[in-house]
Amino acid sequence: MCGIVGYIGKKKAQPILLNCLGKLEYRGYDSCGIAISASGIEVHKDAVRVRVLGEALSVLDGTVGIGHTRWATHGEPSKVNAHPHCDCTGRIAVVHNGVINNFYKLREQLADEGHTLASQTDTEVIPHLIEKYYDGDFVKAVELAVREIEGSYTMIALMADESKIVAARKDSPLIIGIGDRENYIASDVPALLDYTSRVIYLEDGDIAVVSADNVDVKKDGSSVDREEHKILWSVEDAQKAGYEHFMLKEIHEQPKVIRDTLAEYISAAEPAADLTVGDGGLEDMLILACGTSYHASLVGKYIIEGLVKIPVRVELASEFNYSGQASTRSRAIVITQSGETYDALMSVKRLKEEGCQVIVITNVVGSTVSRIADQTVYTRAGPEISVAATKTFVAQLIALYWLALPYSRVDIRRLDDLVMELRQLPVKVQQVLDNEAIIADYARQLAKFENMFYMGKGINYPVALEGALKLKEISYIHAEGYAAGELKHGPFALLGSKTPVVAVVTQDNTYESVITTIKQVKARQSPLLALVGEEDETIIQLADSVITVPQIDPLFSPVVNSVVLQLLAYYVAKRRGCPIDFPRHLAKTVTVE
Ligand code: F6R
Repeated sequence: MCGIVGYIGKKKAQPILLNCLGKLEYRGYDSCGIAISASGIEVHKDAVRVRVLGEALSVLDGTVGIGHTRWATHGEPSKVNAHPHCDCTGRIAVVHNGVINNFYKLREQLADEGHTLASQTDTEVIPHLIEKYYDGDFVKAVELAVREIEGSYTMIALMADESKIVAARKDSPLIIGIGDRENYIASDVPALLDYTSRVIYLEDGDIAVVSADNVDVKKDGSSVDREEHKILWSVEDAQKAGYEHFMLKEIHEQPKVIRDTLAEYISAAEPAADLTVGDGGLEDMLILACGTSYHASLVGKYIIEGLVKIPVRVELASEFNYSGQASTRSRAIVITQSGETYDALMSVKRLKEEGCQVIVITNVVGSTVSRIADQTVYTRAGPEISVAATKTFVAQLIALYWLALPYSRVDIRRLDDLVMELRQLPVKVQQVLDNEAIIADYARQLAKFENMFYMGKGINYPVALEGALKLKEISYIHAEGYAAGELKHGPFALLGSKTPVVAVVTQDNTYESVITTIKQVKARQSPLLALVGEEDETIIQLADSVITVPQIDPLFSPVVNSVVLQLLAYYVAKRRGCPIDFPRHLAKTVTVE
């Protein structure tokens, strides 16, 4: 999704803006640009990578500027559609993240009033509206302009000869970074880590007037206090640390992520959230999320149903928002690593409107979702830069285990064993990572195929979904995850020697049934790679290849199996020469519908 940055201070703005934009690349973009205020406003933009834009420029003089990475919504990726956009005079420049719903109407009105708009974007109406309302007061003009806009308009405006920049937030994140006689603005924390750890999170409807030595946040025309926060992520957390890709680094960080997340929960005096069952407490549970977080939610269903023994309904947040019967009798969990996903936020808002208590699981402190939920459970995965979620997924699973275990209705001996096994997870995941070379070898064999199925059953069914999602998003191989028992209800028609199947086999009550499906798959000549929890003669006889994963209680097997499938996807994508960290057309934080 679009990334926006701003700088005002004593240093040259251009290198700072380009560096900050580089740190936002992970959000996904197709074009970029900057505007610097020196003698007038100078704009440089194009449908290129940030590095290419920077290389084409000599260093500009201004110490005030704004920048943008664009993820196209209105109009193709091109130089004219790239931000910043300017008014007719070229004295006002704007970068924007969001979607302006009434932009056709505004565009027509502005054209009737004599404004000439050059791009196909919705954003371009903003600088023209500011121009229209400008009568010598820049801040007032921005306030009046945003009043006209329906939709989401997180943006920064810059005006020639002004010693301030004006930022407005609606529906997408925006943070102010506080420096020493200089200030920064950005969509996301990683952009600012090189410069400051002091930040202010703007809230919906805020307008911030930012100068080199002051930040004045206004709401409905009056100044408001917004608390300053200290960022705990370090610069190193957001660097590759010698790994070829962020994704590989993030996969390798998982033992530490599990330890850090568990340490946080263990040190807390109270359970992460109240899941007391019966007697006015929980009777059922709803979990909502998108993408990979949805797959974590599906694992959560098996965890909570297995331990807490209440029915759990899991829905895609994007579908839930359009469903007829929204409310749940008791409590809901919404999972979103970024805390900014549009559909997830909308579902939290709807649940709250209907009187439901909402617990969110997120990785980003201060994210929008954490400010509207009743309760926030943080995962401690650190910044995840690669578009494909890996360590945040595993951290979400840990959060779900930890939420459910205190309310478990299994017998005490089993509970003790489970807690012991949970603490063993970092070691087990490290054992998977130690097997990386073997997994990479299998990946090289799979890289030549164009279609693939992943299958699992029970708690590892969502793991198959997640394995397939990882593969398709970074290697561009068409992959589908299936519940093992469903393959025969249609997908069998696609099996054959050119369509491998990756089977996740668990030594639990699903084992015999999965073996039956494996036999059926093999009878249709599909190459079969099986993940199994121990040396298993039956599987060795049946499968073409076998990856042995460390022994662990089936309840925790999604963690180790997912790490294998992450590595498999990574090495397939690497073999195919794909841009692993920034897959085409994808965005890390999806702040639009
Ligand atoms: C896939 C991936 C996406 C996200 C989805 C939800 O690797 O990262 O599918 O999981 O966009 O994002 P969050 O969790 O931020 O709500």
